[in-house]
Amino acid sequence: MKKVGFIFDLDGVIVDTAKYHYLAWKKLANELGFEFTVEQNELFKGVSRKRCLEILLDIGQIKATQEQFDTWMVEKNLDYLAYIENMDSSEILPDVPRVLDYLKEKNIPIALGSASKNARPILKKVGLLSYFDSIVDGNQVTKAKPDPEVFLIAARNLRVDPKGCVVFEDAVAGIEAANRANMTSIGIGEENVLSEAHYNFKDFTEMGTDFIASLVQKNLAK
Ligand code: G6P
Ligand code: MG
Repeated sequence: MKKVGFIFDLDGVIVDTAKYHYLAWKKLANELGFEFTVEQNELFKGVSRKRCLEILLDIGQIKATQEQFDTWMVEKNLDYLAYIENMDSSEILPDVPRVLDYLKEKNIPIALGSASKNARPILKKVGLLSYFDSIVDGNQVTKAKPDPEVFLIAARNLRVDPKGCVVFEDAVAGIEAANRANMTSIGIGEENVLSEAHYNFKDFTEMGTDFIASLVQKNLAK
C-alpha cells in the first residue's frame, strides 16, 4: 500500500468540456421546444448523462417513454462527440501539465475519476492519456458522485490508502464524494460554490508547486 496518490476529475478540471455538453443539451432542449440556459447547465456538472437527461426533461416538463429517453441519450451523445471531435491540447486548462509533470517527476501515482463515458478518447485527443496510471470513468462506476465509489476504485487501482489520496474537483457532488471517501478534496472554481472542499483554488495557475509538495509531505506523514 502506497501513501500518496492524486486523482483528477476530467470535465472542468483538466479540460473545459462543460461548454460542449451545454451546446449538445441546448440543441436537444430546443428541438423539444424549450430553452436551456448556461445557469441551468451548472446543475449538470459532475452529473451522469442519464441523470442530466432526467433533469433536462423536468426543466422542459416533458414526459418521455423509455424509447424516447434512450433515443435522446444517444442523440445528445452523438452531438457531444461531434463537438469534441477536433479537440486538441490547446483545450487543456492552464497549468494542468505543470502539475501532472511535477507528480510524474516525483513518481506519484495519478488516476482519473470522472463520471464521463467519453473520458478516455478525450484524454487521448488532448495528449494526456499517458500520464494516468488508472482511468476510472462512467463505464466502471455503478453509483454516481456524490457517492465515493469512483474515487475509492481509483485509490484501489493505484494501491494507495484512500486517506492518502488528493482529489481535484470542480463539482459540488465531486467534493462531497471525495470527502466521503476520506480523501483530501481540492475545489477548482468558485470558493463559495465549493465551500465543502478542504482547499480552494480558482484554477491551477493559482496553485504553486510548493503547495503540491506540502500535500505530498502531509500524506506521507499520515
Ligand atoms: C462529467 C460532466 C457532466 C457529464 C458527465 C457524463 O461529470 O461534468 O456534465 O454529464 O461527465 O459525461 P458523458 O461524456 O458520459 O456524457
Ligand atoms: Mg467536473
